[in-house]
Amino acid sequence: MRLFLIAGARPNFMKIAPIVRALRSHTDGIIDWELVHTGQHYDHKMSATFFQDLDIPEPDYFLDAGSGSHAQQTAKIMIRFEEICVKQRPDLIVVVGDVNSTLACSIVAKKIGIKVAHVEAGLRSFDRTMPEEINRIVTDAISDYLFTTEKTANDNLIKEGVPKENIHFVGHVMVDNLLYQKDRLQNIDPAEFSTYRYKQEYTRYIFLTLHRPAVVDNKESLSDIVESINRISQETPIIFPVHPRTKKMLNSFGLKLSNKILELPPLNFKESLFWWKDAIFVMTDSGGLQEETTALGIPCFTLRDNTERPITVTEGTNTIVGTKGIALWNAYRDFMTENIKKGHVPELWDGRSAERIVNILSHI
Ligand code: UD1
Repeated sequence: MRLFLIAGARPNFMKIAPIVRALRSHTDGIIDWELVHTGQHYDHKMSATFFQDLDIPEPDYFLDAGSGSHAQQTAKIMIRFEEICVKQRPDLIVVVGDVNSTLACSIVAKKIGIKVAHVEAGLRSFDRTMPEEINRIVTDAISDYLFTTEKTANDNLIKEGVPKENIHFVGHVMVDNLLYQKDRLQNIDPAEFSTYRYKQEYTRYIFLTLHRPAVVDNKESLSDIVESINRISQETPIIFPVHPRTKKMLNSFGLKLSNKILELPPLNFKESLFWWKDAIFVMTDSGGLQEETTALGIPCFTLRDNTERPITVTEGTNTIVGTKGIALWNAYRDFMTENIKKGHVPELWDGRSAERIVNILSHI
């Protein structure tokens, strides 16, 4: 079987790394695979650094799609991916997550008779104003093999009419990556990290990430959050690696962060983990960090009104606080008065999901 593994944006890279490892160690010759990078993310700190950091090989095909409106970006990926598929005719593509690259490549493949496997299928926020929700629904509707991370995802897919035999509950490849990289971190000299000197100064801190358009593209909502984090930082320092989208919006709205917030450039996976694993808690609007904090038992406050990853709330350490500055401040005060949520690690989040996926694919 000839397989294309697809990645395009930052959160994809953590998910393909363990699949690459599992494919490499699957040496019976049944699967012949190649890597496609759509170029949805292209800055060194958003892309190349992750390839090096996570031991992902150079892509076999690079589509150089870049940024643009949703339609522009999706269309560029589709046109360029179709050219490669028509020439190379893989039997199957494997897409991960819910970004525009996931959607674009799935549609292209399916329409020319190539099978699609979706890793991280079935997650639903039930909020169709989120571009990722549209990407998830469409990708799942046309996928042939759907690999899920939690049981609620199986329920969602069955309700949407996906045949049961196409759904495989395998756990989470992102947790595979997290556990693998956490182990490796122990053998790294932390002085290699450019932010090491700051970490020695900060013993008790909050780790923050923020990039969703619903919060950062809107002046009123971003000002409200900035006011709240500035206030929190007067009591507890905040470490904030800033996504390029957020950086752009902070500048264009003229918003200033307090000097108690340590503003960093986007960090590679290991350096980011180096910080958040020791944070007193994490504040984020990222899907991935909600799950990774649950996997390591670190409290997480999610700056969104919903989550497509409910197990992080029902079983893990995640709390949905919404997008209002006052709600964030209240969650912070609550936490500081010892109201700390405990959780446990969900079923099959054990570091072996990619192995399960490759095993299933090698028998199709
Ligand atoms: C995308 C994903 C989102 C994911 C996020 C992680 C979709 C719909 N969204 O959102 O699910 O959580 O990635 O980062 O696919 N930019 C750069 N350099 C880059 C990439 C982007 O400067 O390498 C800037 C550009 O100005 C661009 C903006 O960031 O317009 C947004 O990038 P884009 O890929 O469109 O979406 P993200 O917000 O990153």
